[in-house]
Amino acid sequence: MPLIRIPKSWELPERMVTPELAFMNRRQFMKNLISAGLGMAAVSLTACNRSEAEVQTITSNLAEFPNLTQNPKFKDVGRAVTSEDFATRYNNFYEFGGTKSIWEAAQALPTENWSVEVTGLVNNPQTYDIDALMQKFPLEERVYRFRCVEAWAMVVPWVGFPMASLMKDVEPKDQAKFVRFTSFYDPKITKGPGFWALNYPWPYTEGLRIEEMANDLAFFAVGLYGKTLPKQNGAPLRAVIPWKYGFKGAKSIVKIEFLDQQPPTFWNVLAPNEYGFEANVNPEVPHPRWSQATERIVTNGSSSSWEKQPTLLYNGYEKYVGKLYS
Ligand code: MTE
Repeated sequence: MPLIRIPKSWELPERMVTPELAFMNRRQFMKNLISAGLGMAAVSLTACNRSEAEVQTITSNLAEFPNLTQNPKFKDVGRAVTSEDFATRYNNFYEFGGTKSIWEAAQALPTENWSVEVTGLVNNPQTYDIDALMQKFPLEERVYRFRCVEAWAMVVPWVGFPMASLMKDVEPKDQAKFVRFTSFYDPKITKGPGFWALNYPWPYTEGLRIEEMANDLAFFAVGLYGKTLPKQNGAPLRAVIPWKYGFKGAKSIVKIEFLDQQPPTFWNVLAPNEYGFEANVNPEVPHPRWSQATERIVTNGSSSSWEKQPTLLYNGYEKYVGKLYS
């Protein structure tokens, strides 16, 4: 594991790991958007103030997924849905850079002819073409809380299907105890030579226990806000595990492996004392360098002005997952 001479960005204090929006005043933010070529900065910022009702209207305008249903169990999380502008412009995708503003760089991700290999300890290994996958499993919309380990939070309407549906199709063997998700990685396309994180343990991988994968909440997303998943959010297929910190949700998945042992995973290899394999959202377990007792709701302005809310155990999903950890 390439731990020697790796730039220790994960050792930065919390205020350093939440860059851009976090420290920019509104004016600076607009200037940066404009210089980033986003000529519609003003429109974008206005849109950030959309009310929850308006956002809900957009999510139910489902032109790209005509057969989509909204799962009534996962419709209301007691908080307003985050503006689409923030969910798609404030991202973590280290393959494309170490800031939150990677959305333009991520457009280099080649999503055509995408396939996902499902392999390992299964009776029925598959290589799914992404379009076939989207046909095969009925798609639904689920509004989930989203909590990053960096102590910011959003509420996102995802489009996708339960991980349990895919499990049924591939039939994990009894020996399968864990699953590993592997993200797309090609240093020629992502950051290439000279990239500060080139020595990181790429490709990005994440994993779950098999019982966690089978839980009703565990989800594969192919879209958000009623639209195809943007590249910066992990097109064309990403994992969404809402009771765990956001880093567990591997983006742009190319491989799903069923294993008999816990796999090494990207952040856990880099900093095992900071990013555990389990990584359940828990207000009582501080990150070694900051408290997890509260979270800030991503909106416009500087992060110090973002509304602070108490963190909920399992991100508010205890009734679904508490039994996994009793
Ligand atoms: N997946 C890959 N392949 N690469 C990444 O850098 N970042 C993770 C997760 N999945 C990441 C990834 C982290 S730290 C978070 S918080 C979420 O993606 C961010 O998802 P979002 O950009 O859609 O909000």
